[in-house]
Amino acid sequence: MPPVITEIEDLKRIYRRRVPKMFYDYCESGSWTEQTFRENSSDFDKIYLRQRVAVDMANRTTRSTMIGQDVAMPVALAPVGMTGMQHWDGEIKAAKAAEAFGVPFSLSTMSICSIEDVAANTSKPFWLQVYTLTDDDYMRRLFDRARAAKCSAAVITVDLQLLGQRHKDHRNGLSAPPKPTLRTLVNLSTKWAWAMGMLSTRRRQFGNIVGHVADVDDPSSLMTWTAQKFDQSLNWDRIRQFRDMWDGPLIIKGIMDPRDALEAVNVGADAIIVSNHGGRQLDGALSSIRALTPVLDAVGDKVEVHLDSGVRSGQDVLKALAMGAKGVHIGRAYIYGLGAMGQKGVTRALEIIRNELDVSMALCGRRHVTDIDRDILLVPEDFS
Ligand code: FNR
Repeated sequence: MPPVITEIEDLKRIYRRRVPKMFYDYCESGSWTEQTFRENSSDFDKIYLRQRVAVDMANRTTRSTMIGQDVAMPVALAPVGMTGMQHWDGEIKAAKAAEAFGVPFSLSTMSICSIEDVAANTSKPFWLQVYTLTDDDYMRRLFDRARAAKCSAAVITVDLQLLGQRHKDHRNGLSAPPKPTLRTLVNLSTKWAWAMGMLSTRRRQFGNIVGHVADVDDPSSLMTWTAQKFDQSLNWDRIRQFRDMWDGPLIIKGIMDPRDALEAVNVGADAIIVSNHGGRQLDGALSSIRALTPVLDAVGDKVEVHLDSGVRSGQDVLKALAMGAKGVHIGRAYIYGLGAMGQKGVTRALEIIRNELDVSMALCGRRHVTDIDRDILLVPEDFS
């Protein structure tokens, strides 16, 4: 009997069974004590929704816009590195699911399938996430490649000048592809469907990097290469240079402080994402949902404000929208679906979230995303 899948947690259970431990742990972890990782989700539970009754709830829609682009609901797939290790051709599968559903897909710089692979297998533009590396030529070419692939936005991630440590990745000796140690081989031998899928495809290296820089031709050395090339001296002047390299819509991801939000406005961002990288960078940082209001108060309507980190349901999406976010990005919630069932699993994750959003907004007496406001919330005082 096929498993009954009614919530994101169901997809996570199947995902855990199907994917090698190394890649499950890579996804399902936060930095150091994982306090921020946990609170990203648990803080949503502290916000309550206000039910309304006898309000006309017919003719509803979750349709909206993000950075001026039409979306079936204001939810985008966040950039996730090594998605192609969670399922063969993972980035292509996730991009196809997003395209068919009508929501944006962001391709990570650290993806397995390249910009060109994804562009060749999809028909609508996707967004490219850009890590800021020291190598200027590489950066220029990355933006050129995004232009050639007709990417409809660049998402510059600014919260990863250096890596927050995730203990599990160290213990597991994370690498892509996995190194053939006794431990990984034993684990892989129980993951037949995953392994057979991986064997059926040739794209198993970091497609946006390997072949595009002179000093990397061995994918296993790539983690070290990237760690060395991330720009620890990044500043707003440098981010402005990237703004000048890209004339399309620009989203700046990884803002947690109102002062940084204002800097992002100054460099000409079209949108910012309040995000702590899903609790993978500064452990001990506030959850994103707690950090949202001060950022909104600082920037007003000078820039579109989105949120990610900890979103696992349509109710979470609704709460973020009601707090004032114009869009929400999901990371792990769709990766669970992808690892569990490939493209169908990503679609299922999106369906679950849309259904939860649709019914919950109706029960709050709202028929359109633009009608969702703070009045539907009961928020603890220390959130704002
Ligand atoms: C990420 N994230 C991320 N962000 C980014 O800008 N580039 C990247 O390559 C990655 N890689 C990555 C890998 C994995 C396994 C995860 C879980 C996350 C962060 C991601 O875009 C997003 O900010 C978080 O995933 C949001 O939190 P939730 O929805 O996963 O709780």
